[in-house]
Amino acid sequence: MSISGFRQQAVCLIVALGGLLFGFDTAVISGALSPLKLQFDLDAVMEGWLVSSGLIGCIVGVLVTGFLSDRIGRKKTIIIAAWMFLLSAIGCAFAPSVFILVLSRMIGGVGVGMASVISPMYITEFAPASKRGQMVAYYQLAITVGIVLAYASNAWLDGIDLSWFSRAEIWRPMFLVMAIPSIVFLVMLAKVPESPRWLVSNGKADQAAKVMQVIRDPEEVEKELYDIAHAAMKANGKSGSLWAKNIRLPLLIGVVLAILQQFSGINAIIYYGPSIFEAAGFDSSNALLLQVIIGAVNVLATFIAIRLVDRYGRKSLLKAGLAGIVVSLVLCGLLFYTGQTKTPLLLVLMLFYIACFAFSLGPITWIIINEIFPTEVRVKAVAFCTLMLWVAVWAVGQFVPWILAHAGPAMLFWIFAVCSTTNFIFSWKVVKETKGRSLEEMEELFVAPH
Ligand code: BGC
Repeated sequence: MSISGFRQQAVCLIVALGGLLFGFDTAVISGALSPLKLQFDLDAVMEGWLVSSGLIGCIVGVLVTGFLSDRIGRKKTIIIAAWMFLLSAIGCAFAPSVFILVLSRMIGGVGVGMASVISPMYITEFAPASKRGQMVAYYQLAITVGIVLAYASNAWLDGIDLSWFSRAEIWRPMFLVMAIPSIVFLVMLAKVPESPRWLVSNGKADQAAKVMQVIRDPEEVEKELYDIAHAAMKANGKSGSLWAKNIRLPLLIGVVLAILQQFSGINAIIYYGPSIFEAAGFDSSNALLLQVIIGAVNVLATFIAIRLVDRYGRKSLLKAGLAGIVVSLVLCGLLFYTGQTKTPLLLVLMLFYIACFAFSLGPITWIIINEIFPTEVRVKAVAFCTLMLWVAVWAVGQFVPWILAHAGPAMLFWIFAVCSTTNFIFSWKVVKETKGRSLEEMEELFVAPH
């Protein structure tokens, strides 16, 4: 690997840490919730607040990121997100009351929302076209690692004796652990340059050229800088409208992929996987082990996407993954419908589902959302699609318990299967292949008169 190639990889891996904190923050609450309920004697309303405060913060985070990252730059926005994670970890760990705890969770949520827009967008703008898919998939990899780390750290803390926290307050160190990756993230961000595309759009072409000389091979610099400058000139410093005619198709693709990623049921399976097994009649003492196995498969299968997404393209991986997701959901539903759930087949199907998600829908949704929009609307449009993704996270969280109570698990699996079939058809017929195209060429793909 050339020196510039090595630098690209290093910078993208550092920025992807935003995903690790996103995964950690969203998963840590699952272990902290029961000790919290015990200590504060939380009623259903307070418990609801504690869980949803993160999501509310997240929506705020997504909304401010669009504005901030255009005004102050991508790098400073990532630094603010990292501070949010650190503040939240400290605020939660030392919260003197439930109110401060909810507030600190909200601050963490703002960090998650910000990171979910800015990390993949920075990587998309920074990576060379030929490796963009792989590098944005690092962000997905980091989310999955963050989820596993939160489970592992919760389990580890549960099993050790801490002299400085009483056992009833075990949730405090659970949250505090997040300060470690937040500090690592903050320190490493010092090594990350500003996005050359943002620099050019903000009249700092000289600085952009300096960054490009460090992160690209000499023969690539001139052409790429010319393309970026050309696109910026076309945009002429103006921020385009989200509702412009040429944005309709990419916006439709981004929004539909974002919503249907969540309506594949991924978070229901990741977070409720162990309860699904309990409901199926498995021994509940294995819950933690199951969570770790699900988490590990999620991490490992993401490497398939990292290796293949720039070689075989986004569409073929999406279609293959979605086909596997639909088959496993339909069969899981059948097992529940016929009452044959006490079989290892259920575990095999669920792990197969996770693997299919991890090499397709997980990373590729983020890749496509970030790469399909023209420069003048990229930030707004990415923020809008990401907002829709979080609204879908919220909607699934609301509707899963209701469906389970009224129609049972078989119906839940089948509803997710129908949504994923819709996604398969949509990805096949409407989504456009974006492999290997530069962001500037992408504009032509969608903007060209049809
Ligand atoms: C999704 C998250 C999910 C994670 C699981 C991401 O792509 O957006 O909602 O928890 O994948 O790995």
